[in-house]
Amino acid sequence: MRGQDDYIGANTSSLTGVRPFISCRMRTLLVIATIILAASAANFLDEEWSTWKTNYEKKYVNSKEEGVRRQIWEETWHKVQKHNSLAEKGLKNYTLAMNMFADMTVKELIPTACNSKRIQPKQDTKPESSSNFTCDSKKKIKNVVDWRTSGCVSPVKNSGLYCQAWWAFSTVGVLESRYCIKKKQLIKFSEQQLIDCNDGNDGCCAGSFESDFKYVSQKGIMASKNYEYKAGQFECEYNPMKTVKIKVNKYYTLIGEESIANEVETNGPVAVTMYITPEFFLYNGGVFDGECFSNGQAGMTIVGFGSACGTDYWLLKNNWGKKWGESGYVRVKRNNNHCGIANTAVAGDIVGSK
Ligand SMILES: *[C@@H]1O[C@H](CO)[C@@H](O)[C@H](O)[C@H]1NC(C)=O
Ligand SMILES: *[C@@H]1O[C@H](CO)[C@@H](O)[C@H](O)[C@H]1NC(C)=O
Repeated sequence: MRGQDDYIGANTSSLTGVRPFISCRMRTLLVIATIILAASAANFLDEEWSTWKTNYEKKYVNSKEEGVRRQIWEETWHKVQKHNSLAEKGLKNYTLAMNMFADMTVKELIPTACNSKRIQPKQDTKPESSSNFTCDSKKKIKNVVDWRTSGCVSPVKNSGLYCQAWWAFSTVGVLESRYCIKKKQLIKFSEQQLIDCNDGNDGCCAGSFESDFKYVSQKGIMASKNYEYKAGQFECEYNPMKTVKIKVNKYYTLIGEESIANEVETNGPVAVTMYITPEFFLYNGGVFDGECFSNGQAGMTIVGFGSACGTDYWLLKNNWGKKWGESGYVRVKRNNNHCGIANTAVAGDIVGSK
């Protein structure tokens, strides 16, 4: 084929000049290039898939399951490519990644069955010690706060794919840091205790910050080394003898982003929730200002805030491992209640051990 084209091309060129020769030869080359590209794209995806599976320790029960997962993963791959090429052109402020969530369906990421059982915090169930905190608006807020530099933020944890007990992780994130800020000792506390033992939660399916703060103020919290995370709900193994007794003097809901910033700067990390879409799971880096919808929710711990390229952001510690986002962290646009981030901010004052 190629020889023939070359021949025709050479022949044509000798009659009508160099252009037809190039266009004809080019067409041939293009056809070949396209075939090579298509083949190498498939190869490239095969390789990507295999590397990705290794990287995220993915194992499938059989080849049927793997086929289904691969298909979801490829759809995600195209979505991520498209988004990131927009980001490259400056048309998105954040990038996406082919991370551990790339082979999961929307239903798995945002399980509706779990949502229906989720406890909606009611006004009348608010604990008595809860109060609203309003800030002194005249107080100047610093431009950048990052509690990680204090050594009082524990390493990013991983809740696993199927136990999205974000309330437990967010509450523990606040308690660990604030205990450390007060007592100069960073102890990793147990999320599992809150999942198993706090009746105010519904295992991996539902929970609330206020209920967790209330529970901890009554029972204390065990170190995670004495009550390890198991990514599911199990029998309560609370052991009062092995409990770090921490007195949570008061816990409160913060109203408005300015009071949250003031609280973060003055006293330490704060627990928040945020509405999310399946896209949020694929966040890679940048300041997230993407869409959200109200049936998906994630809880995180605000450990700081700042400004990047004229955009104010919150610095949030998530519980999806270090491979997610910016080494486990995400920056979310600040000062427009983005995705309802200021709707349920909760913090508690620790006054030392009882
Ligand atoms: C990126 O962020 C800036 C500042 O908040 C905003 O003006 C701009 O519209 C954002 N870009 C996109 C593509 O959303
Ligand atoms: C706290 O704020 C909420 C919403 O603005 C309000 O409904 C509630 O009464 C306030 N609670 C207290 C204790 O001031």
